[in-house]
Amino acid sequence: MSKAAGDAVHVPVMLNEVIEALGARGGGMFLDCTFGGGGHTRAILDASPDSWVVAMDRDARALERGSQWASAYGDRLDLVHAPFSKVAEAAGGRVFDGVLADLGMSTDQLVEGRGFSFADTGPLDMRMDESAGMTAADFVNTSSEREIFLALAEGGVGKNARAIARTLVFHRPFSSPKQLADAVKASQLGKRSQSHVHPATVVFQALRMHINDELGEVKKLLEAAPSAVKQGGKLAIITFHSVEDRAVASRMREWESAGSYPANWRGIRAEKRIGRVVNKGAEKPSDEEVSRNPASRSARLRVFQFGESF
Ligand SMILES: C[S@@+](CC[C@H](N)C(=O)[O-])C[C@H]1O[C@@H](n2cnc3c(N)ncnc32)[C@H](O)[C@@H]1O
Repeated sequence: MSKAAGDAVHVPVMLNEVIEALGARGGGMFLDCTFGGGGHTRAILDASPDSWVVAMDRDARALERGSQWASAYGDRLDLVHAPFSKVAEAAGGRVFDGVLADLGMSTDQLVEGRGFSFADTGPLDMRMDESAGMTAADFVNTSSEREIFLALAEGGVGKNARAIARTLVFHRPFSSPKQLADAVKASQLGKRSQSHVHPATVVFQALRMHINDELGEVKKLLEAAPSAVKQGGKLAIITFHSVEDRAVASRMREWESAGSYPANWRGIRAEKRIGRVVNKGAEKPSDEEVSRNPASRSARLRVFQFGESF
């Protein structure tokens, strides 16, 4: 099949699992918090003619690409430029049958020369929203060794985080991702989990998460989610990093057991829970999907159904 205008290179992960989890074949109002290449949004819209999607992304380029085909869905698709921290404004008072977040970055962002790939020789940027915040070059070239260490440690770099921070401070300034990746490689401090994985992979992931405050954003999404989902509706979150997966899992467990009610909760207040965790443990992509799309290998899907009558 030839590529159409606005088509993305990103391959959506766990597509069928998401459609099933959200009950999208039955139609309804959905919020896709991570539009990206639009793969999940399209699948939700195609699953039923009675589906509507509000799709948000903090990356204007993703929405620009999507806008080239969005009109084919008429008023069934609404694209909104917003980060998770503005989810309530993006929802505009609407409540949804299903809310999806497919965290991390898209393949399109990786190949656009925006500093996410360690092969890039262009600017060391790494911002998903290019209109706001500090670039990775600003951060690595001007922050203290301790600030860099903390960012690397929070992003899961492990026991070498301190030594890598020292190396980066010694070799800076960096103007391109390739320079930074080469410095990590030469130091032999990067984590090499598999032989074909570049030793700077985890360092890049940690820097990207820091520059985009990804963990902080996920926590804000988890704050807003109970007010955005209808009684009986579902929240589905796909993570690619154990730090994020732990944050999602523990928040869902808390909702199931402790009952933290949002101010505008319309249901009857149960003593304890505001819903149930669907599937104990995270769902993983099938072996078939991982061999077809290796980028899916670390995906973990967790689903929560809101409503106190479970
Ligand atoms: C893994 S991709 C989503 C791919 C999409 N599900 C698809 O099928 O094509 C993640 C997307 O979420 C966006 N994103 C990440 N963090 C975000 C945040 N805090 N707020 C809004 N969008 C975010 C990124 O810009 C990226 O486009």
